This record gives sequence, C-alpha cells and structure tokens, in this order.
Amino acid sequence: MFAHGVASGDPYPDSVLLWTRVTPSAEATPGSGLGPAVTVNWEVATDPAFSRVVSKGSAKTGPERDHTVKVIAGRLEPGTPYWYRFSVGRAVSGAGRTRTAPATGAPVDHLRFGVVSCTNYQAGYFSSYRHLAERGDLDAVLHLGDYLYEYAPGEYQARDVVVRPHDPTVEMTTLAHYRRRHGQYKTDPDLQALHLAAPFIVTWDDHEAANDAWSGGAENHTEGAEGLWSERRAAANQAYAEWMPVRYEPGGPLFRRLDFGALASLSMLDLRSYRSQQAANGVDPAVDSPERTITGAAQMDWLLGNLTSGGPQWKLVGNPVMIAPVRIPSTLSLAEVAGVQKLMGGTTIDGVPYNVDQWDGYEADRSRVVRHLRDQGIKDTVFLTGDIHSGWACDLPADPLTYPTTGDSVAAELVCTSVTSDNLDDILNAPPRTSSLAVEAAIRTANPHVKYLDFDSHGYSVLDVTPAGVRMDWYVLADRTVQASAATLATSFTVGAGTGKAVPATGGVL
Ligand SMILES: [Fe+2]
Repeated sequence: MFAHGVASGDPYPDSVLLWTRVTPSAEATPGSGLGPAVTVNWEVATDPAFSRVVSKGSAKTGPERDHTVKVIAGRLEPGTPYWYRFSVGRAVSGAGRTRTAPATGAPVDHLRFGVVSCTNYQAGYFSSYRHLAERGDLDAVLHLGDYLYEYAPGEYQARDVVVRPHDPTVEMTTLAHYRRRHGQYKTDPDLQALHLAAPFIVTWDDHEAANDAWSGGAENHTEGAEGLWSERRAAANQAYAEWMPVRYEPGGPLFRRLDFGALASLSMLDLRSYRSQQAANGVDPAVDSPERTITGAAQMDWLLGNLTSGGPQWKLVGNPVMIAPVRIPSTLSLAEVAGVQKLMGGTTIDGVPYNVDQWDGYEADRSRVVRHLRDQGIKDTVFLTGDIHSGWACDLPADPLTYPTTGDSVAAELVCTSVTSDNLDDILNAPPRTSSLAVEAAIRTANPHVKYLDFDSHGYSVLDVTPAGVRMDWYVLADRTVQASAATLATSFTVGAGTGKAVPATGGVL
C-alpha cells in the first residue's frame, strides 16, 4: 500500500506537513490515472511506539491527485521530535520521525541540517541520503533543487554510464510522465530512509521541469513539438505539489520563509518561475540590464524584507543557483574551458566565459541584494546553494573587481556538490582529482573571493548553526555507482558571526 514511503516537511513551531502515497489496487500506478478513491488515516505521537498520540485525522485521495496525501499536522509543541504514520484498513506505513521548529523568537543554541542537491537517479545511487539518514542528529534536510531530472534514459550522461535507467523511457513532458518519474525516485530505498529520518525543506531548480528553465520556456523545451511551455510547466508544478512534502500548491508561491527561533530564518527561493530568459550570447548587454530579473519584483521585495536586522540572527537563504560572481580565466585550455562551460551552462562575455544561468547572468538583481546588505549593514547572511555539481565556499564581495584589496564581503556562500549528477571529471572523462586540479587553481586565482572549490566529488553537506557561527562540512563519496559507497569528510568552512566571510574551520568533525 505504501510503496513510495512517507515524508514530512516545512516544520513550523506548531505544525508540520506529512506526506505519503497509497497504491490501493494494482492499476493505481503513478501517472496511470486509475484506481479507487481511498480514505487514509494519519497519526502523530511523541514516541516511536505511538503510545502517546497527540494529533490525528484522515484525508481522502484518489487518481485526481495521483493517490498522494498531504496533510498539515497541527497543535504540536515547538522544538519537539515526533513520530508519524499512515494507515488504510490494516495496512500501516513505516513510522517517520520529524521535528517542529523552535518557538518564534525563542533562544536556540544549535541547529543542524543536511544539505543536498542534484540527485540524478541515472547517474548513481543516493548513498548520500543514506549517510545523512544514519546520522540521527538533523533538524531538517535542505534540498536545494534538481530532486529529479527530466531526461530520457541515457541522456545527460557524460561518461555514457547509466547506473539505473529512468522511467518512463522518454523525457518527461506530460503530467503522466512527471508523476511516473516522481514515483520512480520515491521507490529508492536511500531516499525513503532519509525522508523517514527527518523533515525536508525543498525548493526546485530547473530539472524538476526542464533544463535551464525561465518564466517563458527552457533550454530543454521545444515549443510546439513538446507542447506549450505553460502547459508543461503546469504539469511539472502539479506533480511537484502532489509528490513533494512542501507547503506549495499550484498557483501559489514556492518561495517561502521558515524561522528557527531567534537563531535563524531560512528564505527558500524560487529562481525559475519569474526569471527573464538567459542572455543569448557572449556579448549580450542584457546581462546587466535593470529590466531583467532572476527573482521577479515581488520575490525580491520579500527577500530584501527578510534580510533585515530585526529578525533572527542568521539569515540563511536556500538559493538554487550561485550568487557569488565567477570569472573563468582565459588561461585555461580550450578543452578545460569547454568542460567548465558545459558544467556551468556557460557562455562567453567579452572573451571571458560566464555562467549566465546563475546570478552572474542577472547582475541588476544581484546588485540589489549586495547593495541592500552593504547599505543596511546587514550581517550574518549565508547563501546555501546547489545546482553547480561542485563544492564551493565563497565570500560575496561588495565589489568583486577590487576584492579583497578594498571593500568588504557582505555575505558568505556555501555550495554543496551533487549527490550524483555529472561534474568536471565526468565531462573531461578523467579520473577524479587529476585534470580538474589545475582548473580549480586557475579559477581560485582569478576569483580571490572563492576559498574552496572541488569540481569532481559527489556527496552531501552538513550545516551546523550556532550563535557564534555557521559551519558547513563537505562529505564526498568514494564511488557514486556503488550503493554502499563510503563517505569521507573533505573539508569544513565556518562563517563567524558578524564577519560575512568563509574561513577554514577548526575543531574536529560535527
Ligand atoms: Fe543539477
């Protein structure tokens, strides 16, 4: 009955969202539109044996919502662990563990999050999810986008190795496709284990719909032959709302803020629904046009409103694409530049390769954020970023051209690598940590605000937040094609309170 597991998400001080999907009959497969209506019961307890149930109810589902169930379990206590489960008749789901957020404004001495992005099923196993699930110390998991990929089997694989082929066997473009692909991902045992272990806080990047999506289309969308973008986007969004443990319904915003007492706010951005089209070529002056946007006006106003001195101390931003500027030096070989451009979706501007799918392609919006932080004297902003399939620790300079000689850093950016998706060694078809090392060194020299860069590894991050600092640990997998792969700590960086700068961390393992 519960073949796709259970999940929780978006913890508030007094409520949490619970999710499951039921299979009441053999034909009720994801995307089939078949199967009967069902009433699903749910309960929340303060103990894993469910002897003290504190909240319960029931919800109807059926083929109109692909037999998924989303409920808000309310009247919970802040900062408290809970266990939840679902049942239909005598069939009972696994018991998930979740945790509410601390009370609004309450002092909090410590928070810990798993941080992941770019989980391409075809490219390998979700060992990172299993390692995070086994920790048992996470308040929540932040998934920064590319939770699933749209491609047909074999597409988007630089090394020509398909570890596990996608289902359905076509690029997803219709509601049935999106539902069925979500269903495939939700059968992964490591993914199910992490959803069981902790609430998720998610946002999407592009691949939840199609590569390099913008408000009116996508690089990987052919208008007409693949239908209308507006209809494809609506199908992707509907399946996302059905299948993800997120407080989002089609037509409403995905961008939203969660608070963790007085210690941290978390602004989760949607950088795909409102953005202008990516700049078309290397000399396109539109990159810095004030008319172009990556956030849209309403989300920008909301974001700047969240980045104020009055609220929680740390202003964490769940940011699907990098905000720190990255200039790709012209000293690289043509093959290296081509590899970096493929990884970073780049084009060339004034002879300097550039990633126009990141904030780099929307300079007016980036300066709005940077100027706001500088002019208002806002400290303690940390951007948590995915998308780029590589690990980075960066400062966000007020002026990158003079940094660090003059000017200052207004925030730090910590970027987790991909769980499985291809990165530079895959694209260059080289052994890990060989030919990429020179590229990383050249990019760091050309960008002194970049303190750490690993273009090759796959894995996950752990984020620890205290009043004194925000620390990220990057863990890397031995082999993404082996489900039982070990993970080892690669490096750790800390952003000290009031500094806006990422520096190497000291003091052991989290
Ligand atoms: Fe990705």
